[in-house]
Amino acid sequence: MLVRHRKDGLIEFFRNMLNHSFVLNLVEETAPQTWKHFEELVEEHIIDPVNSRLKHLVSTVGTFFTHLPLCEAYLDYDAHYHISRRKYVPISFDDVRHVLNLAQVKASAPQIGLLSFDGDQTLYSDGKNFNDEDLAEYIIQFLQNGTYITLTTAAGYGLDASKYEVRVQYLLDAFKKALLPENVVSKFYVLGGECNYLLQCNQDYKLNPVTNWSPKETGDIDQAIVKKLIDTAEKSLRGTINDLCLNARILRKERAVGLIHGGVQDNGVSGMQGSLSLRREVLDESCLRVMEDLRKQNFKVPYCAFNGGSDVWVDVGNKRVGVSTLQDLLNVPPEACIHVGDQMYETGNDIAARSCCPTIWISNPTETKYILKAMLSYIGLRESPIPKTTKGGSSD
Ligand code: IMP
Ligand code: MG
Repeated sequence: MLVRHRKDGLIEFFRNMLNHSFVLNLVEETAPQTWKHFEELVEEHIIDPVNSRLKHLVSTVGTFFTHLPLCEAYLDYDAHYHISRRKYVPISFDDVRHVLNLAQVKASAPQIGLLSFDGDQTLYSDGKNFNDEDLAEYIIQFLQNGTYITLTTAAGYGLDASKYEVRVQYLLDAFKKALLPENVVSKFYVLGGECNYLLQCNQDYKLNPVTNWSPKETGDIDQAIVKKLIDTAEKSLRGTINDLCLNARILRKERAVGLIHGGVQDNGVSGMQGSLSLRREVLDESCLRVMEDLRKQNFKVPYCAFNGGSDVWVDVGNKRVGVSTLQDLLNVPPEACIHVGDQMYETGNDIAARSCCPTIWISNPTETKYILKAMLSYIGLRESPIPKTTKGGSSD
């Protein structure tokens, strides 16, 4: 219960099951069969999500939008990383996460219609701007192949296109350099403030606000409710700053409020009070407190409270609302969509997208690149990043 917010029930379950083989020194012989069994549990859960064995075993398990070739993904992963040959280190949380990602990429590649990317720590480092040549090249390949791309970020600057352009100028320049025509660049969108603002790339490689964007659940909320929600969140965050003596201040926006680093306290005093830096533990604590304070008020509108890695934010709306509304607009069914993000724990903001499409859980932009390269190879547009080797072969 105490560390519930840094757990993923499904990954822990798979890992524990696989540990039995490790302890018995039977990984090479039995792990493929165990992954086959997981695959069957997922199939069964797709058919009956309420009464499935998986639901009984992992109460937090979510929706699977596609079948998952888990055994095949494990064999590919093991052929490269040789996890079954390890004697002292059992399969890790990250190993299981990578196998799940690979299985999802294999399942989604043939039908991918919309790729949604989180921004910070997924397409670029936290707080930085897009700056990766390979990533730009892969995104361009998807666009040219007819896939819609959206940057779905919590960063909300209203409909001020220039502020979003700063974050992705490198990518927009890459579109220009590649001379992408209008019918291709217009498939690139930015969803800001989780779901609140939509912008689309135009033929001049600029972002244009989509003025009639209005998600059903959040587009038309009563201003008084927005105010009450943000007021409640602000009060909670301020309380935590004072209680834990954080070196932090409040930043309030039209539809969001954040606890961010630095500044002085309400009484104008800095120094001993307000000196604690924003480590992960205090960010999680602030986040769980504000979640609980909001839960008590029973707000009917979707919202998102999350630990952003170096700050805590509460936004009106969430990525589920954003991505699912975009699916409707672009006529892409959930199973043909993927959201890629780094914040998949309970205190993250990407986890909301799990209820409207398959997700890929990455931990940094390098992993995002790897995933895209793998997907392009399964579509047949690039060479595989995972060399197929026999069990006896070596590769790196
Ligand atoms: P994401 O990972 O792309 O969703 O971006 C999350 C980060 O965006 C947060 O950790 C903040 O640093 C930043 N951010 C900027 N403006 C906002 C806002 O209005 N709401 C939430 N996060 C914001
Ligand atoms: Mg992120």
